[in-house]
Formats: sequence, C-alpha cells, structure tokens
Amino acid sequence: MRAVDIIHKKREGHELTAEEIRFLIQGYSSGEVPDYQIAAWAMAVYFQGMTASETASLTLEMARSGDQIDLSSISGIKVDKHSTGGVGDKTSLILAPLVAAAGVPVAKMSGRGLGHTGGTIDKLESIPGFQVELEREQFFKQVNEIGVSLIGQTGNITPADKKLYALRDVTATVESIPLIASSVMSKKIAAGADAIVLDVKTGSGAFMKTLDDSIALAKAMVDIGTDTGRQTIAVISDMDQPLGHLIGNSLEVEEAIQTLRGEGPRDLHRLCIMLGAHMLVLGGVARDAAEAEARLEQLIADGSALEKLKELIAAQGGDASVVDHPERLPHARERFEVKAEAGGTVAAIQAEEIGIAAMLLGAGRETKESVIDLSVGIDLRAKVGDAVNAGDVLAVLHVNDASRLQEAAQKIIHAYRITSEAQAAAPLVYAIVTKDGVERFV
Ligand code: URA
Repeated sequence: MRAVDIIHKKREGHELTAEEIRFLIQGYSSGEVPDYQIAAWAMAVYFQGMTASETASLTLEMARSGDQIDLSSISGIKVDKHSTGGVGDKTSLILAPLVAAAGVPVAKMSGRGLGHTGGTIDKLESIPGFQVELEREQFFKQVNEIGVSLIGQTGNITPADKKLYALRDVTATVESIPLIASSVMSKKIAAGADAIVLDVKTGSGAFMKTLDDSIALAKAMVDIGTDTGRQTIAVISDMDQPLGHLIGNSLEVEEAIQTLRGEGPRDLHRLCIMLGAHMLVLGGVARDAAEAEARLEQLIADGSALEKLKELIAAQGGDASVVDHPERLPHARERFEVKAEAGGTVAAIQAEEIGIAAMLLGAGRETKESVIDLSVGIDLRAKVGDAVNAGDVLAVLHVNDASRLQEAAQKIIHAYRITSEAQAAAPLVYAIVTKDGVERFV
C-alpha cells in the first residue's frame, strides 16, 4: 500500500477501506507517513467528505492509537457526556454529582482549557485542596464507593488524534464534520464510555454557526457511536449567548453550586436537567426522559445532589465547606461595572467575545504556557430578551490585574447587540439527534 494512492483515491471522491485508513493512521503515528501526506489527505477529506463507515474506521483507529481505559471494574453502565465547547459551560460540574446521586456511575476524565475560559479541570482546581490527579486504581475505587470521580486526562489517550488535530490546525482542515466527529468520539471511546450524551453547541460562540451544520455534526457523531456499539444521543443547544451568568473558573464553581442548590439560572438548570435525563435513560436507571427529569428535579430539591458534590470534593482532598460557604472560593480583589451605552432589548450576546474578554482578565490561557487566575471573570447581568436602559449594568468584571481591563470592557460592549424591537428569550435546545432521526423544536 502507498499513501499517495490512498490520497489520490480520496481526492477523486472514492470510499477508503478500513485497511487503507489503518495504514494512514498507524503510519502517521509511527512516523512512516509524513505530515505532508496526511495534510494532503485531510484536505481531500475536507472537500470530498467521508462515508459513515470511513468515519467509524478513522475513529476506532485513533481510539486504538494509545491507552484505552478499561472501566469494567466499575459496576453499572458508564455514560460519558461531552460538550463541543461553549462559554460559561459548567454543565459537567453539575451533571457529575447530579447523575451520580441518581445511581449512574460517573468516571470522568476532563481537560484543561486553551483560550476563552478554563476547562472543567481548571475550574475544579479553584476548590482549595481539590486533587485532579488520581492513580487509576484510586479513580476506579472512588467511583465504586461514592459513584463519582472527576480527574484530568492521564496517560497517553489518542496520540494520533493529538498529532492530527495539531496538523489540521495549521492546514485549514479543522472545519470538516467527519474529522471533528472522529476526533471527539475517538477520545470518548478510548476513555471507556459505554454510552455517550453529546451537547452540540450551535450559534455565534460555537464551532458550528448554523443549525444545519450542528445537526450534521451531531448525526455524524451519533452514527459513529451506533456503529461502534455505544448508544449515543446528541442535544443541540444554544451558544448565541453564554450559558448562565458567571464566566471564570471559581465563579463557575459558584454557579454550579447554586444550580445544585436549585437556585441556578434558568437556562443552565434546564440544560442540565435535559442532558442529565438522557444520561439516566442511557444508564438504565430511568425508563424515559420524563421520569428521569422528575427524578433529577427531586434530587436537587431534597439536597441529595448537593450532598454528592460535597462527597466528591471531600473524596478528592478538597475543602467541601465551600459548598455552604462559597465565599471561601478564590475571589478577585476588584469589581468593575460595564454599562449599556443605549437602551433597548438584548437581542444577542456574542459568546466568543465574552470568552475572549474573560481570557483578557486572566481566566483563560492565551498560550499553553499561560498561568490562569482562578478568581477572575465576568458576571453577566443582562441576557437575551432582557430590557435595559442606557447606563444599566450589563456585566460586572471581577478583576485582579487591570492592565487589560479596558480592552475586556470594550469587548463586552461590542458583544451585546441591543435593539429597539422586543426580543423573545433565546431558545435553549433546538433539536435532539438519535440513531432514529432528528427531532427539531424550532
Ligand atoms: N474538538 C476536538 O476534540 N476535535 C476537533 O476536531 C474539534 C473540536
């Protein structure tokens, strides 16, 4: 087999065999197939696309390129959840204790963030003492004992995806649905998931800006899950504004605690209930979404979900008293208000701009080496559909280092689109994609 023949075949729009895909990916991992041939192949995929069977082969090949976590020593169906990324998205912090309280084991490996705000692991590190690194055996033991553990990615998971993603980043081949779908799903499969709930974001702050593209990405991921024997469901949710009100690492932990207490923002609460309900159904502890939703609401109302968060924090060495005393989380020294320049109704909030503003304050990483400030961030006081007068506070910035404060404040002003027409609140969930098809809500 020769790489050049495989590239030629793809360039002409023909379907590659599983053996041809294995040859490319294994060759790339071992260094026998060079960057330039994989770059040419990725560009051919970008233009010609991939069939469902090619996408599944690529996913499995990347999943097998490094460590594969065996979660079989944990009893129960292990349901993983993945979000395609959004500003203010702290759903994992809420869902992990919430679904664990309902009896679905959560053995979750999460990442750190690059750009925008931090990842789940950065957020957890704002809890004093919380250990994000556990030995594999300790990780399994904790899930068997208390039903939940959240740790940083350990070992060598999907090295082929890491190498391919870095190459795509510099060859204008990131925005390919089969390449994104296989990249995401290879990591979930290698991390040992039996079933997967995906939160595919759509809108200005998402990878996929249109609903049609988001549905196409969701379908590609659901097909991979189905083809590889993992029940998979995707919820298409809004990213035309940040999720919830608080953005920044310790601020997001605070909002997750509020939500588990039943006092969270409506959009965040509702999305967690929907995603969590699908996790319960796939995890085999509820018959249908309606029963699962009622169960989750009950676990929030009776304090069980909050108790599970305390158990999780204590088990990983953290100070669980932050749950009752969020003032013990790191706080920034100063507050700075950003005010509306004109009155009207908030029509949209460019989530990406808000994310960049948070990063300028120090909440996210500009480069892999940047050190993030866990205490800084943004409190959005006005969301889509809200009426504001000129001079009303749109957002409060939590600041330690004021050197880029003005730049951040300008980004926030520009992120808000305020119009004179009345606006309905933005939809939260647009569609659900399963192996049986697409159910659209708008
Ligand atoms: N996230 C991933 O993990 N992979 C992609 O290709 C795009 C987003």
